[in-house]
Amino acid sequence: MPIDKISKKTFFVTGGAGFIGSNVVEFLINKKAEVIVYDNLQSGNYDFIKNFSDKGMTFIKGSTLDKELLITSLKKYNPNCIIHMAANPIISYSGAVFDEGLRTTFNVLDAMRLSNINHIIFPSSGSVYGNATILPTPESYGPMLPISLYASMKLGSEALICAFNSIYGIDYNIFRLANAVGKNMTHGVAYDFVKKLKSNATELNVLGNGTQKKNYIAVPDILSGIFHVYSNEKYKNNIFNLASSDQISVREIAELSLKLCKSTVKISYQTQQEGWKGDVVDNFISNKRLLDIGFKPTMTSAQAIEYTINLLLKNYA
Ligand SMILES: NC(=O)c1ccc[n+]([C@@H]2O[C@H](COP(=O)([O-])OP(=O)(O)OC[C@H]3O[C@@H](n4cnc5c(N)ncnc54)[C@H](O)[C@@H]3O)[C@@H](O)[C@H]2O)c1
Repeated sequence: MPIDKISKKTFFVTGGAGFIGSNVVEFLINKKAEVIVYDNLQSGNYDFIKNFSDKGMTFIKGSTLDKELLITSLKKYNPNCIIHMAANPIISYSGAVFDEGLRTTFNVLDAMRLSNINHIIFPSSGSVYGNATILPTPESYGPMLPISLYASMKLGSEALICAFNSIYGIDYNIFRLANAVGKNMTHGVAYDFVKKLKSNATELNVLGNGTQKKNYIAVPDILSGIFHVYSNEKYKNNIFNLASSDQISVREIAELSLKLCKSTVKISYQTQQEGWKGDVVDNFISNKRLLDIGFKPTMTSAQAIEYTINLLLKNYA
């Protein structure tokens, strides 16, 4: 991977104290970039990144809803690129869609326009396709019919980014991520299962009937995928799915969790397939477009889950 677009460059990472964001920060610091983290610590954790403060990271405690602070910070640090991770990853009520999803993206884009910053990397989601009829689902699939507020917020954010590109020339790399797993994880099914099993639960209660299938992606593969694309100018202003090449079911994750946690409790399932309203029960996004440009994830979905559960167990040990 060419590092001239990373080394000695400045990245402004909104949400950089969160699960994926903190891994992005570590990656960039290791590549000798300068990193400005802008995070309100709503769901992030400063402990994830505190060791980088003497290695080229600056932390600003601020909200993307505070546009003035955002503009002042961008003007002060004049970054080469914004990696916009800040969002509420578990949007479950309608009020949050606008403020904690769409408005945060709008503010970041508008602050970029006003500060002459012209490149954004944005983590969208594989859930934007809704209940797609083509699996694995390619980026060209349509019509896009999201079935959750979270996915609608992500699709709306993508639309805003495309419009800012068209009108104001702000370049972008959008990634529709599969379910992300890995170090510093604080939410998601593998995290929930391990947490339940470690709290001496007598039963592992699973949301849905366990047949829901999704593809996953481990953080190291997310990082190499994102920067594989970012490092090559010719891939800018494009959308890429970023996922492993296969799926795993919730039942398989539950069984793997029991095995790795050395637990023998009973797994209990619900009768309906979906775990919650808006759960895409068969989510399989195609990574062919990335494979075609030479990026190959190193882990299958099952390997990504196993890798993550082992990391979580190390934290408990
Ligand atoms: N985790 C996944 O499976 C997944 C999949 C697809 C896309 N994404 C996207 O990736 C991004 C990071 O997700 P994550 O799983 O690391 O979530 P996370 O909650 O761990 O990280 C989000 C970070 O943003 C910060 N934040 C939230 N609102 C903010 C605001 N208004 N101003 C400043 N900071 C704010 C939080 O404090 C946190 O540090 C999100 O945009 C999410 O939607 C995540």
